[in-house]
Formats: sequence, structure tokens, C-alpha cells
Amino acid sequence: MADPTVIVVGNEKGGAGKSTLAIHIVCGLLHAGKSVAIIDLDLRQRSMAKFFANRAAWTAGNGQVLPMPVEPDMGDGKALAKADETEQMARFDAAFAEARASADFILIDTPGGDTLLSRTAHGLADQIVTPMNDSFVDFDLLGQVDPVTLELLKPSIYSESVWEARKHRAITEGRSAAIDWIVVTNRLAVAAARNRQRLEERMEKLARRVGFRMGPGLRDRVIYRELFPFGLTVADLSNDVRPVAVSLAHVAARQELRNLMQALGLDGGSLNAPLDAAA
Ligand SMILES: Nc1ncnc2c1ncn2[C@@H]1O[C@H](COP(=O)(O)OP(=O)(O)O)[C@@H](O)[C@H]1O
Ligand SMILES: [Mg+2]
Repeated sequence: MADPTVIVVGNEKGGAGKSTLAIHIVCGLLHAGKSVAIIDLDLRQRSMAKFFANRAAWTAGNGQVLPMPVEPDMGDGKALAKADETEQMARFDAAFAEARASADFILIDTPGGDTLLSRTAHGLADQIVTPMNDSFVDFDLLGQVDPVTLELLKPSIYSESVWEARKHRAITEGRSAAIDWIVVTNRLAVAAARNRQRLEERMEKLARRVGFRMGPGLRDRVIYRELFPFGLTVADLSNDVRPVAVSLAHVAARQELRNLMQALGLDGGSLNAPLDAAA
């Protein structure tokens, strides 16, 4: 089997949408018929792990069958969060080896903040996906720029760690193993279009200087969180699987996700199938 593609979802800020993006990408891949292994390195929150536990419970309780990822066991997250780095790294190495042997894709969700585990995961990535809130406040998550000339004054700590990860991969695997870094604007507001245009112009400039590319954004939609307790995403909805009334917002969200998958070079799978609203 060829080496799986490793996708790491990361940025140093909590609440930006890492776990939300991670679960949507995983479900998109699963419905495109791919085998996916997941590793949740947010040992305290474990949002991605909880989501798939909800999914197992919901499908069992409703007599449904949905594709599931492989989840290498890293033991109790809270205990591991308190363990020393040697212990954490040993568990991660074992989980990664298991994931590597069993799947087409490995999806790693990371905590906000800089940890050895998170840094190591970034160094293994083929793709890094970074959600960023639709706001100037979050702009310096990627780098500080001169307000007038937009020259890059200083990369952010996170940008520096992606550079380190790239250097690490270039040394260990040669120049061809470049990391594709994609930044996705998340929770786009409907209003404030003019502000967004300014933001986007600045993002494009920053992208060239810091070395990432912009993916299509996701709007702020209830649908991205309301299915969490069922362990479902809009990629799972069909005429059989619809625990909530399906509206045009769901159809639009599927389109956004399809665009995102496409930007990642991935198959849209079930997201391409028509979905009847209000059925
Ligand atoms: N596009 C979106 N629309 C609506 N709610 C969102 C969206 N993205 C994230 N959220 C919500 O924002 C909160 C933080 O998202 P989460 O994915 O947990 O961030 P992180 O993993 O980066 O800490 C969660 O309550 C999540 O449901
Ligand atoms: Mg998270």
C-alpha cells in the first residue's frame, strides 16, 4: 500500500474551527470511499474523538450504517496530557505507525498552542489546513505586517513552526516532499462584504510572503455544529439519514464543503449527490 496522505489541521488559536474542519474533512473522505485514520492530539478536549463516539452511538441506536474512521488507541487523553513528553511521543509514534499501516489518509487534529506532539505532527504533514476567523483580529495569527506597505514585519509563532516543519521534511525526505499549507477563512459573516474584500487582499499578499495558499471559506452556519451530538455532518445527510429537517442552508453548506475538498485536491464523494431540502 502506498504511504497515506497526512493532513494536519492546526493553528495556535483555540476556537478557530480546527476540530470542525477536521470532522468535516474526515466525513467527506469516508463518503468518497477512502479509508481514514484519525489521531486527536487535543488530549484535553478530544472534540474529534467525541464526535466519532457520538457517531457510533447514533448509528447503533438508529439502525443506520455509516462509514467510520480507524482510531488508533492512545489511551486516556487526560492522563496522557499529564504524562511526560517521552511517554506522549511513544504513544503518538505507536498510533501513527498503526494509522500508517491501515489507511489512505491520516487526519490529525491538534490543540491550540505549541506542544511537542503538535510540532511533531506538523513535521509529518503532507497538507496543513489552518482555519482562521473572518476578522482582522485574527490576521496576525499568520504574521505581522506594516499597516501601510503590507510588508511582512514578523511571521507569527505559528508561521515559524510551519517553516520549521517544512525544513524538517526537506531534511528527512528531500525537497520534493513539500508541505502544502492551506488557510481557510471560517465563520464568514454574511454582512461586512467591504471589510472582507480588504481582508482578502491583505491575505493574498501575506500568503505570498508567508508561503500558504487560500482555500475557499466556510460561512458561519448553525448546521456546522448542530449535527455534532449525532456524530454527523452535512456530508452524511441523505434521504435516509436526516435527523433534522433539511433546509437550503444544508444544501449550501454541502457546496462549501465540496469546494473545500476540491481545493485540498480531494474527491467530493457524497457531497456531489443531490439532497432534497424540506423532504
Ligand atoms: N463555520 C462555523 N459555523 C458555525 N459554528 C462554527 C463554525 N466553525 C466552528 N464553529 C463552532 O465554533 C466553536 C469552536 O470550533 P472548534 O472546531 O471546536 O475550534 P477549535 O478546534 O479550533 O478549538 C464550536 O462551538 C464550533 O461548533
Ligand atoms: Mg479543537
